Amino acid sequence: MPYRLPEPSDKAAYLREKFDEIARCYDLFNDLITQGMHRHWKNTLIKRLELPAGATGLDLCCGTGDLAARGRDRLGGEGALYALDFSRNMLEIARHRLTDKDGGNGPGLLLLCGDAMRLPFRDGSLDFVTVGYGLRNVSGLKSCLAEIFRVLAPGGMLASLDVGEVRLPWLRPLAQFYFFKVVPLIGRMLQPGQEMFSYLPHSTQDYPSQQELRTILLAAGFSNVEIVEYLFGASVIHLAPKPGNPAG
Ligand SMILES: C[S@@+](CC[C@H](N)C(=O)[O-])C[C@H]1O[C@@H](n2cnc3c(N)ncnc32)[C@H](O)[C@@H]1O
Repeated sequence: MPYRLPEPSDKAAYLREKFDEIARCYDLFNDLITQGMHRHWKNTLIKRLELPAGATGLDLCCGTGDLAARGRDRLGGEGALYALDFSRNMLEIARHRLTDKDGGNGPGLLLLCGDAMRLPFRDGSLDFVTVGYGLRNVSGLKSCLAEIFRVLAPGGMLASLDVGEVRLPWLRPLAQFYFFKVVPLIGRMLQPGQEMFSYLPHSTQDYPSQQELRTILLAAGFSNVEIVEYLFGASVIHLAPKPGNPAG
């Protein structure tokens, strides 16, 4: 299916509509294209956050709540977790996922419909921000990082999981083939005629490599940015602390 990325000015509206359309098969799609490995990567991301008891955080671009569920379980009833997304259908699935388990949202969990570019939090009010496959999708990466930096408290941590650049040059054509041919095919098997599954691989083209993103994070004010790679760099976690000492 021929595909063209939306213009930057149309990106947010386009994505909100398209994520609404694919919400019901998003989780299965994610499982199929990563052969379930995204679960392990998300577990590692949460583990590496080393959340202090009573922490307050945000899962940004939470989608169907997969990462938020792990964050909530890790907090274990202490602290508070917000999960924010602008797609109502993705949030609806998140609401089911996060309530089915114990009949409520779980202690300290709040789902928010909102825009990652304008976060509804006071400066320095959060201990951590997690984001899974979200930074690639926002309409302005640097502005979004500035917004995340603003809401994090000194000593707070941003942890992002997304795609990266395969380190071995000879392996890159294979990765490209998988992303651009196999991934859209899997998507179209799940939801015939849906162009969103062609957007997803194309969205990786404008996204910085892991080293470039590290440089952008440092320029945004984060320090000691750590990179955790899987599959020769095709999947990457960035751990980016905001300098300073946590209060209390
Ligand atoms: C690829 S999904 C990721 C879902 C989930 N975090 C995961 O790890 O599977 C990207 C999500 O980002 C959301 N999104 C993209 N841009 C956004 C924005 N500006 N504000 C809020 N949500 C946004 C989309 O609605 C979608 O649910």
